[in-house]
Formats: sequence, C-alpha cells, structure tokens
Amino acid sequence: MGYKILLIHGPNLNLLGRREPDIYGTSGLDDINTRLQRIAKEHETELRVFQSNHEGALIDAIHEAGNWADGIVINPGAYGHYSYALRDALAAVGLPVIEVHLSNIYAREEFRHTSVIASVAAGCITGLGWRSYACGLEALIGMLKDRAAGGAS
Ligand code: DQA
Repeated sequence: MGYKILLIHGPNLNLLGRREPDIYGTSGLDDINTRLQRIAKEHETELRVFQSNHEGALIDAIHEAGNWADGIVINPGAYGHYSYALRDALAAVGLPVIEVHLSNIYAREEFRHTSVIASVAAGCITGLGWRSYACGLEALIGMLKDRAAGGAS
C-alpha cells in the first residue's frame, strides 16, 4: 500500500447533487467519493473519507489524521472563508494539504474570494467541479511520491 490520505468534505456537501446543481453540478457526494476511490486505488493509496456539517468534528478529524495520514484533501465549504479554527488545526498537524472547491470561488460573491485555508495549503484547486477533487488527489499523491524520492515537488 502506498500513501494514506484523508479526504474531508465540509458543511452542506452532503447535499451535493440536490444542492444548487447549476453551481455545484449533479454529481452526488457518493459519486465523487467513488471516483476518488478509483484514483486512490490506481495509486495503491488508502483514502479515508469524512464529511461533517460541524466545525468541531472537522477539527477532530484533522487532529486524528495527524496520527495516521500522509496528507489531506479538503473541501472546507463555507468554513474555508472564515474558520481560523479549521486553518489552525491544519497548521497544527503539519500535513500537506490541498484545498479544493467545486465552484470557482473567485467568480462568485465577494465573501467567497477569501480563503483562510489557502495560506496553510500546498495548493488550491477551484472551479473544476468534481475534477477539482480528482486534480487535488493526484497532485497530493504526486507530491508525496516526489518527497519520498527526495526530489522537488
Ligand atoms: C464550495 C464553495 C464555498 O463557497 C461554499 O460555501 C461551499 C462549496 C465549493 O466546493 O465550491 O459550500 O466549497
């Protein structure tokens, strides 16, 4: 088995498929998770998935990931725009993080243009629908491989 990665979906993402499909697409969370599991398998990577609508539960999952995961892919949902607690949890565990968003947060309302997670993320992928997750996972696995090989990422 290669790497162990935690995929986190933040608040309201359990409603994907039904929630504002013109913005977030028609893929449900299960569809996205299935696609991501397929990619993880191709790379012999273990992918654990966690979704919560609660800030504290997300923080607990991040803390726990510090004990087992090699990296995190996170769609923080709206918390990404203002939760310093979530940002601090990611900084505290010190794992490589990729922030992803389905919609292009920079093409939407002004309050979405800010990400408090971005400064602790290795990279951010926004606006590609479910492909944001796929790119994020592939990028993280690539970074971990580079790191293991002692090369630049
Ligand atoms: C989102 C963008 C956020 O602004 C929003 O609050 C979400 C979903 C996205 O994936 O596009 O819940 O993170």
